Amino acid sequence: MSLSFAVQPNPNPATPERVAEIHANPGFGKYFTDHMAVATWTKGQGWHDDVIVPYGPLQMDPASAVFHYAQEIFEGLKAYRHADGSVWLFRPERNAARLNQSAHRLCLPELPVEDFLTSVTELVRVDERWVPSADGGEQSLYIRPFMMAHENFLGVRAAETVLYCVILSPVGTYFAEGVRPIDIWITHDYSRAGIGGTGAAKCGGNYASSLIAQYEGYENGCSQVLFVQPCVDRVDELGGMNVFVVSRDGALITPATEGTILHGVTRDSILQVGRAMGLDVQERRLPPEELEEGITSGRFVEAFCCGTAAVISPIASFKSKHGAYSLPPGSGSITMKLRDAITDIQFGRAEDTFGWMHRIV
Ligand code: COI
Repeated sequence: MSLSFAVQPNPNPATPERVAEIHANPGFGKYFTDHMAVATWTKGQGWHDDVIVPYGPLQMDPASAVFHYAQEIFEGLKAYRHADGSVWLFRPERNAARLNQSAHRLCLPELPVEDFLTSVTELVRVDERWVPSADGGEQSLYIRPFMMAHENFLGVRAAETVLYCVILSPVGTYFAEGVRPIDIWITHDYSRAGIGGTGAAKCGGNYASSLIAQYEGYENGCSQVLFVQPCVDRVDELGGMNVFVVSRDGALITPATEGTILHGVTRDSILQVGRAMGLDVQERRLPPEELEEGITSGRFVEAFCCGTAAVISPIASFKSKHGAYSLPPGSGSITMKLRDAITDIQFGRAEDTFGWMHRIV
């Protein structure tokens, strides 16, 4: 039977003044709405106890397996308010499908696509007033579904009780500096994911293991870190985003996923929009040596990173312990064209010729 996520309303919701104050300067992932969706899965019984409840701490036993073995996955998508006040989701079925791919890899139960969509839709409807008005800007309501082992047991095996939860956070741009070009640190000392590992799954462990290199990047003045896949000699992905380069002759290149790179929804959307714009779209191995040679020779004229949170952020330069190389200053016209094409669809400023948007309010 399908889940319905009945609502238990929050008796103490945030005041309209507080919501307006948060909308005036949301930052990224700092504030949360009045409600959250939860559901439990038990081996032999399936999903049950699906409900929308007041947002608040989860009660977890210290022996809960997720604290010890990191059996956890998550998703990220956004709700956008259009100028007429309506609220829309962008390709939510892709997140539902990816959650299940991640679930498979982490030995967690699948959540039927329909139940994922109900959890997200019903929660956003309940907290609709938290969806910022875009006003020509970039604000939206970030949706974070996640699933974790919730069984109190210290043996190493797949948990037989699992918790699914969805929380919401009004957000502006991911990077504090806004949509300005950022510098990227290429780490040669740490890798994000190996062949046969969890690189294609959206699991917390991938992000935890990226942090040490991320801090190496900060120490070198960079905003994000780019990992290299040593076994196949190609750049992989950033700590939390996919990477693209644009060549002088109109090629749009991104590393092929090959089992170690996350199948980004924004990545896929860029590939589709790029094809529709007539760009020569290439998903292939991009060795770090080619990245350097392409930029220093002037063959690669733009680079950007992308993800649901960051949308598309132009890259100014790449640095590593072997040196630094910069994209030509002032370049980025294709990057911004792709960015505008996608955000215009998301915010209802352009016709959705791809059929990506789902109206929920
Ligand atoms: C997203 O883009 O939604 C992510 O999950 C990545 C994270 C850096 C926020």
